Amino acid sequence: MPTKSRVQKPLRRPKQSSKHSVSLARGQKQRFQQRLLKWYKQHGRDLPWRKTSDPYHILVSEVMLQQTQVDRVIPKYHEFLERYPSFEELAGAPVAEVKQTWYPLGYNIRPERLHSIACETVVRYGGKLPSDPDELLSFKGIGRYTAGAIRSFAFNEDAPILDTNVIRVLHRVFIATGDPKAQKAALWELSEALIPRGKGYDFNQAIMDFGATVCAARDPYCLLCPMKTFCKTFPFKGPK
Ligand code: ADE
Repeated sequence: MPTKSRVQKPLRRPKQSSKHSVSLARGQKQRFQQRLLKWYKQHGRDLPWRKTSDPYHILVSEVMLQQTQVDRVIPKYHEFLERYPSFEELAGAPVAEVKQTWYPLGYNIRPERLHSIACETVVRYGGKLPSDPDELLSFKGIGRYTAGAIRSFAFNEDAPILDTNVIRVLHRVFIATGDPKAQKAALWELSEALIPRGKGYDFNQAIMDFGATVCAARDPYCLLCPMKTFCKTFPFKGPK
């Protein structure tokens, strides 16, 4: 049985000289952090998975939120947790039934993956999801994004996340050139470097809300944006 450790590992912050690094102008990082956290305090969404730090609940929400909008996930999140309140109960259920409960969220591979993560958690970790990044990444169905989300939202670690919303925000504000999808390494570094120490939970939730509501894919609210004074894409003129 692997030993469980809640001791936070020292953060490996990339050096600015690394070939992937995005250089940040003086004060830009602090400005972004402060403005984002202030914005989140005023405008952050009240979402059910933000009322818990239970790793199982966080995992269920994150798997559901891959490819599905928040408002469609909320009722299914409650229904799913009522039916399968723990890793053990999910692991003990037939996959076909889990897939039926999942319906109509779509992408049917996700309930299968969630079920397989539950089985592995029960068998290898006694029903407790580990917080160690390498252990999390060793699960089939947990990638870098989900591992970061679990670490920051369930274990309160300053772990970076990078999903479509975060990619869009960071690329627009700090890079603005080239194809964002081809710059994942630099964007992961940026996502990690920007986290204010000890505030990974709020920072990560905030940047996702900010990307979903202000820095939206189409028609972002640039005039209201707290980052507009230093955003490299301001004012947004539509897709290039
Ligand atoms: N999308 C993925 N994770 C999310 C979260 N925790 N809150 C809002 N949207 C999300």
